[in-house]
Amino acid sequence: MKVLIDLAKCSGHARCYDKDPELFQIDDMAYALRAEFEVPQGAEEAARKASAACPERAIRLE
Ligand code: F3S
Repeated sequence: MKVLIDLAKCSGHARCYDKDPELFQIDDMAYALRAEFEVPQGAEEAARKASAACPERAIRLE
């Protein structure tokens, strides 16, 4: 599974970070840092929850 974050849509809500701070890295202003990364085994559920929690719908799973 892969996470794709549209950084242009990200508004710094940091709800993704709340779901999994290791997977979803944010900067000092709480904006997502990484646009694309693989989800390690065992973190798929956190990735799904983060995607659903983003108010900007910026997180897509592939
Ligand atoms: Fe950005 Fe959505 Fe996360 S707005 S910081 S990708 S919850």
